[in-house]
Amino acid sequence: MENSQEEIEAGARILMDSKKVVALTGAGISVESGIPDFRSPGGIWTRYDPTIYATLESFVNDPSKFWSLARDLHPLLETAEPNLAHLMLVELEKLGKCEAVITQNIDNLHQKAGSGVVLELHGTFRSGKCVRCGEKCGFEELEEFTRKGSIPRCGSCGSPIKPDVVLFGEPLPPHVLKKASELAQTCDLMLVVGCGLEVFPAASLPILAHRKGGKLIFVNVVKTAYDHIADVVLRGKAGEVLPKLVEEYRKLSSTGASQRRHC
Ligand code: APR
Ligand code: ZN
Repeated sequence: MENSQEEIEAGARILMDSKKVVALTGAGISVESGIPDFRSPGGIWTRYDPTIYATLESFVNDPSKFWSLARDLHPLLETAEPNLAHLMLVELEKLGKCEAVITQNIDNLHQKAGSGVVLELHGTFRSGKCVRCGEKCGFEELEEFTRKGSIPRCGSCGSPIKPDVVLFGEPLPPHVLKKASELAQTCDLMLVVGCGLEVFPAASLPILAHRKGGKLIFVNVVKTAYDHIADVVLRGKAGEVLPKLVEEYRKLSSTGASQRRHC
């Protein structure tokens, strides 16, 4: 179902009136880059049981399950390129309308697209550490193991290495969550793009922004449980909707500027 012009215009007007804009993104923003999300039909958790493949407990008991999932996803993550949605957030940043991207994704596509401030709530695959002694492991070493699907082991004590991604049952990086919460409480607009809003504490960020009087624009192909608190819901693929929103904002800001020039 196409968004009405009124909905796009309403979103552009909110962007126009907002001084401090942040984006919260989920797996949905990377689907058009070829990376499946988790809970849509065909999503990763419909094919791999997260209680077996992606909890801290399952990792410590049998890291081979996680690493086999990492190996299966590796080709997608290695070849994926940012899509128009990632690029539109960079465009908004250049227009002074996106001061940070808070992402749940670990695909590095916001950084590849050129976003200046990316807060990775669920960690990163770019580094890892030993589950026992904490010895660090660099990206190249991790890449090698991920490609082979073998279990990286610590050079010092031989225990499994875990990438710095947040598994279920693990706390989010405290400094990242603190910064993300501060942004949620102080922004006057949060763009929520491709988020299922089923996993906390990430899903609490739009609620926090709403509670503090921030506006919310949701971009999603389906309804979420929190659509009722959004000021504007743009239904559709992020790579198709965000360019329309940015184009409408540009039109509005140029007419706004021209009106200011004449008066
Ligand atoms: N454009 C916009 N939204 C999309 C698109 C698209 N092209 N494709 C899918 N979506 C939406 C889906 O409708 C869904 O609401 O993106 C959302 C993705 O939801 P999830 O699959 O639950 O992913 P996410 O919200 O990122 O999950 C949060 O859960 O499993 C953990 O750590 C994992 O970071 C992940 C977290
Ligand atoms: Zn070790």
